[in-house]
Amino acid sequence: MKKLNQASIATIESIVAKHKGKMGPVKLMLHDVQDQLGYIPFEAMEMIAKATGEPISKVYGVVTFYSQFTTEPKGKHVISVCLGTACYVNGSQTILDLLVSMTGAPVNGTSPNGLFSIDATRCVGACGLAPVVSVDGTVFGCKKQLDELKLLVLEYMKEESNEVSPN
Ligand code: FES
Repeated sequence: MKKLNQASIATIESIVAKHKGKMGPVKLMLHDVQDQLGYIPFEAMEMIAKATGEPISKVYGVVTFYSQFTTEPKGKHVISVCLGTACYVNGSQTILDLLVSMTGAPVNGTSPNGLFSIDATRCVGACGLAPVVSVDGTVFGCKKQLDELKLLVLEYMKEESNEVSPN
């Protein structure tokens, strides 16, 4: 397992200190760690368990129960494609395939360059917009906004290539 760097450990320590003693501290701490590091490393679970007196199995159970928590680092941009019934019958599988081929990220995985993660999700409660895709929390109803979605993905790819090789 790759060791966490000192900055990440300091981030987790300050999150743990901030919520220690509050009601329901485990979920508060996990939420902040996910938010700030983009995932929950095992070391964070250990530190949270120690600070709250909960067994690590319980902290791990919370992490795996809630889909908002992940134990692997996510890409810079997270794309979620709904595969619920309304979205599926309106072509979300085709959009998912398109996004996989555009970004190089596998379904429920991250692209080799770390730029995109693609998640296949269940119904997100926006069936009227089916097929639904969200990018970093912004929702696209792809019947009307597929071109906007593609342009945004291309824009992020362009930004990244400019950052990697500035000209
Ligand atoms: S099925 Fe996709 S939002 Fe409901």
